[in-house]
Amino acid sequence: MTGPPLPFLTVTDVVVSYGSHLALRGVSLDVLQGKVVGLLGQNGAGKSTLMHAITGLVQLSGGFIGVGGIDVARDQRAARRLIGIAPQDLAVFPSLTVLENLRSWAELSGLRGSRCQRAVVEAIEVMQLGHLRDRRVHRLSGGEQRRVHCAMAIVGKPPLLLLDEPTVGVDPATRRAILGHVEALADEGSAVLYSTHYLAEIEQLGADVVILHQGSVLANGSVASLVSRFSESAVELTFRSPGADEVIRVPAADPVDELPAVLLRFDDRRRDLVGVAIRRPSLEDVFVQVTGGDLDPAAASAADRTPRAGLVDR
Ligand SMILES: Nc1ncnc2c1ncn2[C@@H]1O[C@H](COP(=O)(O)OP(=O)(O)O)[C@@H](O)[C@H]1O
Ligand SMILES: [Mg+2]
Repeated sequence: MTGPPLPFLTVTDVVVSYGSHLALRGVSLDVLQGKVVGLLGQNGAGKSTLMHAITGLVQLSGGFIGVGGIDVARDQRAARRLIGIAPQDLAVFPSLTVLENLRSWAELSGLRGSRCQRAVVEAIEVMQLGHLRDRRVHRLSGGEQRRVHCAMAIVGKPPLLLLDEPTVGVDPATRRAILGHVEALADEGSAVLYSTHYLAEIEQLGADVVILHQGSVLANGSVASLVSRFSESAVELTFRSPGADEVIRVPAADPVDELPAVLLRFDDRRRDLVGVAIRRPSLEDVFVQVTGGDLDPAAASAADRTPRAGLVDR
């Protein structure tokens, strides 16, 4: 069947509170079939809470979540069968082996018999867990456990895949395997919600972006649309001056085209000109602009800076 892709995941005005603390303050987003949406936000932004809300693990104080047309609040079991999740925290049975964990997980998502067996073998292969399959999970390294999580998420080829920071602490080969498989599943039609602190992964996945900040969506859209909306390219000139060098930034829609005119404007200072650079904005610039802080989890104090109000498309 062809036709325009449908939103498989619909999140509308979702509010979640932990006691008096509002973790999600009216979050809305859609993920279409066959699309990856990257969920960005500093620690504490509400990414994991949103993932848990989608699986029905935390209760909504307001709003609606639909998965494949099923209202999660009304029929969590049915919705759960459509979801593969790699949660941020351990969700495995530590004293069971890799194989046992995967098999019980596949059965939970409704697979039986030879289909279950095949799915488990494939997930083990994709996440390169073959040599570890009979090992108890609590004896694995952090990165290996992460791979088990991802294998569990993908084992049922779920139509909705929720991956919460799946690449934290994994080696580069595993990261490539995870990203490659996410792309493959999306190509086969799965909807994917993918949280990460690594902007390069979003760009590699060609994902649309949702920027979450203190429980609210500050901006969303394709990387290109966010970059052009929130950030601008520029010519940057560096002049020698007493003390520190002086950097002058001249915004320019097409910095290469406009370079000669910019140089001409500063012709009277050409003797002091020591550097010319073309700056093209990145997703990272957008993130800093919109949230007022770094994405780097280490820069926790950045969360206190006041965000600039964003524009949200829906
Ligand atoms: N079980 C919980 N009880 C109380 N507060 C929580 C709980 N889980 C998360 N929070 C709070 O909710 C906010 C969002 O957390 P979380 O969803 O884990 O953010 P993220 O995954 O983006 O780092 C944070 O302020 C966090 O401290
Ligand atoms: Mg989290």
